[in-house]
Amino acid sequence: MSAHDHARDLVERGYAILPRTHDDAAIAALRSRLRAIHDAHGAPTPHAQVARPLSERAMVSPTGFVIFELLGLAPDIAPLLLSPELVDVARAVLGPDAFLELTGAVVSDPGRPFFSWHNHIGGIDVEEQRATGQYPRFTRSERLIAVVYLDEIDVEGGPLFALPRRITDPTEPRDDQRASHWDGEVTLTFPVGSTLVFEQCTWHAVQPQRRAGLRMFVGTYFTSRAAPETRAIDRSLVGFRGAGPLLRSVLREPGD
Ligand SMILES: [Fe+2]
Repeated sequence: MSAHDHARDLVERGYAILPRTHDDAAIAALRSRLRAIHDAHGAPTPHAQVARPLSERAMVSPTGFVIFELLGLAPDIAPLLLSPELVDVARAVLGPDAFLELTGAVVSDPGRPFFSWHNHIGGIDVEEQRATGQYPRFTRSERLIAVVYLDEIDVEGGPLFALPRRITDPTEPRDDQRASHWDGEVTLTFPVGSTLVFEQCTWHAVQPQRRAGLRMFVGTYFTSRAAPETRAIDRSLVGFRGAGPLLRSVLREPGD
């Protein structure tokens, strides 16, 4: 599929899957780097009912062992973070000057329970947006969530549910956010090394992993210049110099 086709999917149904954007060598390198960061924090159980900070850039929470400002901890993985396919899709949806807003990663394990329905409106400010209890509507997409999965996401790998939506649809939850199923959901499975892209308004949930071992992903937010300024920023991206041309092309410079 072309970037244009994926972009149409994102606008018309709220998600797109870019299969195998990352090869086995990239997957292995990313996994070993995330494992090293997890080990450096004492290899804690990678989920907790109540969020607990572990360092300036890592915490355990219901999401898992969460790394913020990923390139601040692991600048060496910058060349592996993005794929040309993803950047093409982001530009096709958000405009040619779309920029990278956030980088992060999550490690979890089979002990993480069902991850309930949520979306990512507001991007890096998502928690503040949720706290308002308001559900803004959109005529154009302002942000995409892109996640590179470093595991096979099959029935045992913790598949996702997503509720397809058009960009202009209401953004309110369809049902109880803790419900295990929503009418109209689709189940998303895909090969290891694929990039799953959600429009920020797309509601989704994640089933528990049934296979032993650590489930890992690296994630990014891509944002339109038309989106409101966020309050928080990913400081590891400000003036980042370790990137190759692809990542550099989506960095927003101070005052830019
Ligand atoms: Fe999510």
